[in-house]
Amino acid sequence: MRSTPRSATCSARSTRCRSAQATAPLQQSSQRLDELRAIANGGLQVITRASPAHKASGSSLKTTAILGLLVGLALAGALVFLLESLDRRVNSAEAFERLYRLPVLATVPPTAFKHSRADDRGRSLEPYRILRSALDFVAVTRQLDTLLVTSAVPGEGKSTASIDLAHAIALAGRRVVLVELDLRQPSFSHHFALDPMRGITTALTGREELQDLLLQPFAQLPNFQLLPAGTLPPNPSELLGSPAVSTLLADLASDDTMVVIDAPPLNPVADAQVLLNNPAIHAALLVARLGYTTRDQVQRARSILDRHMLQPVGLVVTGVRAPGRSGYEVYGPAEPALVEAEALAAAPRRRRAPR
Ligand SMILES: Nc1ncnc2c1ncn2[C@@H]1O[C@H](COP(=O)(O)OP(=O)(O)OP(=O)(O)O)[C@@H](O)[C@H]1O
Ligand SMILES: [Mg+2]
Repeated sequence: MRSTPRSATCSARSTRCRSAQATAPLQQSSQRLDELRAIANGGLQVITRASPAHKASGSSLKTTAILGLLVGLALAGALVFLLESLDRRVNSAEAFERLYRLPVLATVPPTAFKHSRADDRGRSLEPYRILRSALDFVAVTRQLDTLLVTSAVPGEGKSTASIDLAHAIALAGRRVVLVELDLRQPSFSHHFALDPMRGITTALTGREELQDLLLQPFAQLPNFQLLPAGTLPPNPSELLGSPAVSTLLADLASDDTMVVIDAPPLNPVADAQVLLNNPAIHAALLVARLGYTTRDQVQRARSILDRHMLQPVGLVVTGVRAPGRSGYEVYGPAEPALVEAEALAAAPRRRRAPR
């Protein structure tokens, strides 16, 4: 369809056309004004006049602070929980008891640890007097003349515990021989001034008589003797598993002598496991260090123990800062009873339980 050009229409009636073109914008404005007026009066009315805001909209500063604090606390709690669940170290004597399924016979504070031994150890031997007392009770029902001291991993306090236990037993009047069977990392030469080349390996190779190798660390305690490791062999596990070691230990334990053995740890090497099969050893004592040994290490040591006949008598937990909360009152008598136990132990000994 062809549209008629506007200029052609206008050209026919030119005067009217021009006036119509001139009034068109006015008519449109008037129409728009009418529409606005209609909207303005279309049933709407002002209820109240808007007033400017006196304060900022949203939560108050106090509410924001409380919410922030709560969120912060929740995040901190979650972080602590996460860190604790990642930290596998055993942090209580009770947890050691559960994991090892063994009773804690004594707990030892870090202050009891000394790099070198002196005969005037005084109060720092108290935990070992408790231990000696507990072992005396165990000895009523099972033979305990040769005791192996071991732990799950290195550095839990085995050497310290075996030296101090032997010292405490000697103080009670019994003859004690402390034997160093850690043939990989012996430490007695650090604790006592002695020749590290002479010891049990010298006796096992037949170069010297056993009796000539026994040392007396404290002049005032002639009933306390020491047999250090001696020259380190290339094959510790094989040597420790030899019948010669059993014969030597049996010889030492004669005449009601208590033999305390400082052994290597159970997990990293086979040496202590070999000793768990030695018929001359009557029992094992496990040393466990608080805040140091992990659950997995304890579980591994426990499974090693489960595979051997020789069962441990209990635990000595080292690194316990607050003894009152971790077993002293549960497993050990109070101090007056200890003094009594020491006096009793010093009296002529009854016959030990047969094996
Ligand atoms: N009662 C204790 N409380 C806390 N830490 C201790 C205690 N006794 C020993 N330790 C720590 O354990 C470390 C090792 O001690 P010790 O030599 O007696 O242990 P060990 O188990 O014989 O070690 P290794 O397996 O290397 O022979 C010490 O340097 C000390 O830091
Ligand atoms: Mg040691």
